[in-house]
Amino acid sequence: MAAFKLNSVLRRQLFVGRVAIVTGGATGIGGMITNELVTLGCRVVIAARNEDRLKEFATTVNKNTGHDLVYPIRCNIRKEEEVSELMSKTVKQFGKIDYLVNNGGGQFASQTEDISAKGWHAVVETNLTGTFYCLKHVYDKYMKKHGGSIVNIIADIYKGFPGMAHTGAARAGVENLCKTLAVEWAKNGVRINCVAPGIIYSETAEANYGQKGMFESQLYRIPAWRLGDTSEVSSVVCFLLSPGASYVSGNTVYIDGAQHLYKSTYEVEQHSNYPPPNYPTTEATTPKSKL
Ligand code: ADE
Repeated sequence: MAAFKLNSVLRRQLFVGRVAIVTGGATGIGGMITNELVTLGCRVVIAARNEDRLKEFATTVNKNTGHDLVYPIRCNIRKEEEVSELMSKTVKQFGKIDYLVNNGGGQFASQTEDISAKGWHAVVETNLTGTFYCLKHVYDKYMKKHGGSIVNIIADIYKGFPGMAHTGAARAGVENLCKTLAVEWAKNGVRINCVAPGIIYSETAEANYGQKGMFESQLYRIPAWRLGDTSEVSSVVCFLLSPGASYVSGNTVYIDGAQHLYKSTYEVEQHSNYPPPNYPTTEATTPKSKL
């Protein structure tokens, strides 16, 4: 048997000399992805609409690390010209784009029948079309010639996404686009994968969705019996970007303590509105309160 020789690619300084773009890279999961990439030596362009927040985050991380590795560029991913400029500016400034993390996105909770056309288009434009613009322009401006690795942050859409149909549809679109590009762009040396976070605690998420206690009330639906942490998402993203995943493309990794295989966060209240069955309705087959 050949001598066993493991030269692990997962190590300190893994991303020294590398350049990444992280959309939505100053807050929540995106902020932690930026932090972990920087910790591994990567230069990171963070892109979002709020320039003040981007600059503040970049200054803080750069001060903490003692290196100027984080570089803010204002960009609304819904605007194709701005996305094109983001890619051009990054190549001009750093000479390359090794990694793209499509993390920028957003949604609001609503029953499908209450989503207006405007609300639908806004969510689909940000999460699906914005991601498409980022993919198209990173390919045009750099990865077509040089290859690269891409991770899309989607959502726990394994069982549909009741209560947030617009983002479920958009994220499913991103997941399918990912499979297509894993095949079409393999010839260019591009790998692309998705990660699907479950319920992840962050201050941003709590501000967006959480009355206090909202997260805790979900625990019994999660086999892990705890929420996820943003660092448990960033570590998987870094792995997928890294040479450690050099034969992995077109996949989705669920980061949810196995919740996608277990209970939905959506409650269906008891009702008797379904078409009736062919078996006789008895006490055993009918909900008690409806007898
Ligand atoms: N994050 C959420 N919405 C965004 C947008 N339109 N552009 C960039 N980042 C975003």
